[in-house]
Amino acid sequence: MAELNGAHVLVVGATGGLGTAISKALAGAGARVSVAGRDADKVEALAADLGDQAAGRQNVDVTEPAFAPALLDAAEQVAPLTGVVYAAGVVAFGPVGDLEPDVLGQLIAVNLTGPILLAAAAATRLPEGGFLANLSAVVAEMPMKNMAAYSATKAGLTGFDRALATELRRNKIKVIDVRPPHTETGLVTRALAGTPPRLAEGLSPEQVADRVVRAIAEDTGELASTSFSE
Ligand SMILES: NC(=O)c1ccc[n+]([C@@H]2O[C@H](COP(=O)([O-])OP(=O)(O)OC[C@H]3O[C@@H](n4cnc5c(N)ncnc54)[C@H](OP(=O)(O)O)[C@@H]3O)[C@@H](O)[C@H]2O)c1
Repeated sequence: MAELNGAHVLVVGATGGLGTAISKALAGAGARVSVAGRDADKVEALAADLGDQAAGRQNVDVTEPAFAPALLDAAEQVAPLTGVVYAAGVVAFGPVGDLEPDVLGQLIAVNLTGPILLAAAAATRLPEGGFLANLSAVVAEMPMKNMAAYSATKAGLTGFDRALATELRRNKIKVIDVRPPHTETGLVTRALAGTPPRLAEGLSPEQVADRVVRAIAEDTGELASTSFSE
């Protein structure tokens, strides 16, 4: 069981719908949270919301190849890290025949290369009892038409997380692959390309965040898409 009271957690993509809800839920569980995001104003606003629970605040573009060690160095200057959450992500819709190379490049950079680089930098720094949580998605389990490239990045991340979980088990570092179903964050309205399909009402970001924080506190290794109603 990971003790969150007094822990220090870095959340990357903290300014997004899920990143914000997870940052607040972690703070509510007693953790100090270092928030990292692309937009300086949003980062400041979130840190102000977190008040005393805000540890560090940093601007980051996860498509920069050297972003991860620099981010971890800065966070560790505040206090040793207990855990890292990667909640940055982008989506795109449309048939594969319409997929532009730069959209594919962004999807892979933000959804797959980013969390792998962050995990690679964090793996040797996190303590025994530490954790890494990565936001994959339900489409890793059920890839969807008109979301093929997005689905591929999420399936890739889930595969990475499963391998990493076995690798870090001996160091007693927990890897949590989080695969939420559709959640009302507005992500689909910010698609890099294409038009989203009609979607039924999704979960609230707070529902997903509470489940993630419970998984961190308990000994849960994966959060399958079906585990969010538990
Ligand atoms: N919402 C859903 O239905 C759903 C379901 C399953 C899984 N997920 C996954 O959950 C994660 C979070 O999604 P969300 O719904 O919270 O989306 P969101 O509200 O759009 O948040 C995405 C976050 O990623 C950040 N980001 C994007 N590109 C970046 C870059 N190059 N460098 C740094 N940060 C970058 C955004 O920063 P800015 O604020 O600066 O744009 C934002 O903070 C994603 O990986 C998504 O695939 C979402």
